[in-house]
Amino acid sequence: MAKQYTVRCKELLPSGNGLVFFNNSKFEVAGVLPGEKCTIELVHKKEGTGARLVEVIEPSKDRIGIKCPVYDRCGGCNLLHMSYESELEFKNDKIKKLYHDITVPQLPIIKSDNPEHYRNKVYASFSFEKHGRGDIRQIAGMYEENTRKVVNCMDCSIQNSIANSIIKTILDLMRLTGTRSYDPDTRTGVLRHAYIRVAEKSGKVMLVLVTGVPEFKDKARFVQTLTKKHPCIETIIHNINPGKTGMILGNKDNVIYGKGYITDELCGCTFKISPKSFYQVNPRQTEKLYGTAVDMAGLKPTDTVIDAYSGIGTISLIAAKKTGKVIGVEVNPDAVKDAIENAKINNITNVEFLRGDAGEYLEKESKRLKPDLIFMDPPRSGSDERFLSAVCKASPSRIVYISCNPETQVRDLKYLMDHGYTPELLQPVDMFSRTGHVETCVLLSRRTYRQPDARVKIDIDLDDYYRIKEGEVSK
Ligand SMILES: C[S@@+](CC[C@H](N)C(=O)[O-])C[C@H]1O[C@@H](n2cnc3c(N)ncnc32)[C@H](O)[C@@H]1O
Repeated sequence: MAKQYTVRCKELLPSGNGLVFFNNSKFEVAGVLPGEKCTIELVHKKEGTGARLVEVIEPSKDRIGIKCPVYDRCGGCNLLHMSYESELEFKNDKIKKLYHDITVPQLPIIKSDNPEHYRNKVYASFSFEKHGRGDIRQIAGMYEENTRKVVNCMDCSIQNSIANSIIKTILDLMRLTGTRSYDPDTRTGVLRHAYIRVAEKSGKVMLVLVTGVPEFKDKARFVQTLTKKHPCIETIIHNINPGKTGMILGNKDNVIYGKGYITDELCGCTFKISPKSFYQVNPRQTEKLYGTAVDMAGLKPTDTVIDAYSGIGTISLIAAKKTGKVIGVEVNPDAVKDAIENAKINNITNVEFLRGDAGEYLEKESKRLKPDLIFMDPPRSGSDERFLSAVCKASPSRIVYISCNPETQVRDLKYLMDHGYTPELLQPVDMFSRTGHVETCVLLSRRTYRQPDARVKIDIDLDDYYRIKEGEVSK
């Protein structure tokens, strides 16, 4: 048995894991809260020595019971052991620390009314477990953190419950038809992943069955049983992914039931969503996020707006109702097709969607377009310098920057601050409840030259945040 050590957790790291010190070294330990006394054991991995929680000796007042049976292995929602109130406090604090060098009033995080079963996009990977001679059981679940080992779990507490029950039916069907899970190492078996998207408002479901081989001989039976048992399934797509890759979807798709897409509603607009297009995972919080972004923008009927990284056109179409002209730029061709159709579905004519790299487009077109406002909502990696420098050259009077990764947003904000912009307001949104991730929305406005070293840290308390929100305090 590995040697165990008693330590006390100092604080939570931005990931949501606890920081402990032991033998003059720092360790990041999952599942432990600030102030807690606990036993840990050291684990040796490829990346170096880490530590694992064995037992909590003195629990924090913020600790709550964990319902998930695979909590210590999955790593998906790593904050289930803390109350939701303390999670929100941690997230407010995390953002405050990360934005320490940015002079910007921070509003309190927009909480979720229902922090469980919110994920409308669910991936399940298939594998098998051996239970003695000849007893092989197919299993489904998420990959164990940093591995390709499937954790057997079909009742995830942040995933949409309909998706959980569809995954159970798929496993039953695998048993009944003798369909084996696909093993990319031996290239044997058939079914690799199920990818499910649920439209929040209508409850309609898109199911993608990903196989590792082109042949899926029982697909007709899968379609018949699944659609009978779950009438909410509106479309089923067979995707083929034979590669030894971490990607869920392969390049080949066949629609085997329905139209190949679903539609959902957000902020009064209808959106068609194809399997490979981006769509936010928490629809109720997305409405609050987009509402905040459009409010922050202060759109005028005469404005020309660029929506960079526009996906299926969500922000563009919501904003188009309040402004003169919107141009969405997006690199994913499927998403651009969806966006063009979404404009038609919603009878919105003052938008245009273009396929391409957002930075390249801005470099070429900004002088001609002279945008008044730019929405930017890049992927987790943030924006590149090409895009940021093109934004500064385009010189819109306002920028609304939405981000799912505060670390890259802070990096990009610093660039924008050094090139003529002032962050005016920061709004965190709890989009990924029960995990350490936070979505943020920042309004910036153009200013005349301002010395980078003249930045001062604003340290306002929560009452002030609320007054700013109510419009009583201006910066
Ligand atoms: C976080 S999503 C935001 C999508 C959309 N704004 C929404 O809220 O649904 C980021 C989007 O940026 C797109 N993207 C990634 N790199 C890009 C680039 N260099 N230029 C344009 N779009 C890009 C992705 O395909 C994805 O649709």
